Amino acid sequence: MFETEIYTQRRERLKKQIGSGVLLFLGNQYSPMNYPANPYHFRQDSSFLYFFGLDSSDLAGMIDVDEDRDMLFGNDVSVDDIIWMGDQPLMRDRAAQVGITETFSLDKLEETIKETQAKGKKIHLLPPYRPESVLKLQGLLGIPADKIRAHVSEDLVLAVVEQRSIKIPEEVQQIELALEATYDMHTTAMLMAKPGVLESEIAGMVEGIALSHGGHVSFPVILTINGQILHNHYHGNTLQEGRLMINDSGAETSMHYAADITRTMPVGGRFSQKQKDIYNIVLESQTTAISSISPGILNKQVHLQAVTTIATGLKGLGLMRGDVEEAVKAGAHALFMPHGLGHMMGLDVHDMEDLGEKYVGYDKTVQRSDQFGLAFLRLAKELKPGYVLTVEPGIYFIPALIDKWIKEDKHTEFIDFDRVNEYRDFGGIRIEDDVLVTDEGCRVLGKPIPKTVEELEAIVGKG
Ligand code: GLY
Ligand code: MN
Repeated sequence: MFETEIYTQRRERLKKQIGSGVLLFLGNQYSPMNYPANPYHFRQDSSFLYFFGLDSSDLAGMIDVDEDRDMLFGNDVSVDDIIWMGDQPLMRDRAAQVGITETFSLDKLEETIKETQAKGKKIHLLPPYRPESVLKLQGLLGIPADKIRAHVSEDLVLAVVEQRSIKIPEEVQQIELALEATYDMHTTAMLMAKPGVLESEIAGMVEGIALSHGGHVSFPVILTINGQILHNHYHGNTLQEGRLMINDSGAETSMHYAADITRTMPVGGRFSQKQKDIYNIVLESQTTAISSISPGILNKQVHLQAVTTIATGLKGLGLMRGDVEEAVKAGAHALFMPHGLGHMMGLDVHDMEDLGEKYVGYDKTVQRSDQFGLAFLRLAKELKPGYVLTVEPGIYFIPALIDKWIKEDKHTEFIDFDRVNEYRDFGGIRIEDDVLVTDEGCRVLGKPIPKTVEELEAIVGKG
């Protein structure tokens, strides 16, 4: 937990931003995996953690802006809880750690909400993303579950996004701690990437390293020789010489700050010339994108620059043709990179995605494109000091997409599909780092993880 004042100041700022009404924050509950007493690991809601700091189930926070009151709702543990789950400090002592003196048992929440409604005060909500929370809100507010979304407070969403987007030094320190564990996850996977090893053996080690550092993984591990499947969670293949292996994984600290790193490597440690050529295009795209990051630039511009580098490189290899700028404008490069350059990162690996990408990654000046590829860009708006974002270009050969575009005669002026067909079994390459926007430019966070062809060839398969 951070110092008490950090939580107090965050709530004070929120009150000033919103101006009036009551702000309701539901903490998360345990969620059953296959029967109620066998739950998924508990993960607290990130906005609740940000403003109320307490990391356990069945809590709610309320801020009455008009009366300047911060309240926590939750029960002290019973003897039954102590027998099965262990002891916990009293709610009032836990609340004091985050600067709150007013605590109530959970059954007072509904009553307090009803009183608030009776006074005609507006109750500001964030969008719930778990069905349990939707049902809870239905009961608490007396609003049908399918109408809850309509009651979400845009003012609160915008205020929370504004605060959470700018990471204070203590938060950057947490992200760098997550990156320490993530460094071990990635270098271990590199050492293990030899022919004959199962993906699951490496994925299991990677996840175990995150756990051994005291947190969890920040999202399900993507570790596969089929990197062309962007979020591939299948780990049943055996590594073979000649294939590339993608490892897209990151730890989260015990305080739930995330890291998110991707490396791609040749199984056994030697790139073929064909792999090296594509790899170096992705690497150039990533390093030039990082070097252009500074306050004031639109991340959409950084994305477009990154895909222009990719299109230029692919033209050099004869896979693309024609005018590169025109190709990018038309979206032809999206055959090879159908996703966006990156996303915000913090308490969530895709930070605040539950609050809506249109608020986190876009604003009045930058609207989401509907073009295939660019439409998947999660962060397009102007970058500010304190933002932490990922930079993760890739090149993929996705047979189903290639076949679709051939059938549709799509972008034939920019793509040589005969050449592309020679890469159908290539797989995919993605390279990802986590970057802090600073006053002067940016800083790549964490200890450098092998990334160049030479650095990778020196470590991969050497375990
Ligand atoms: N690391 C997975 C993603 O960014 O979507
Ligand atoms: Mn990512």
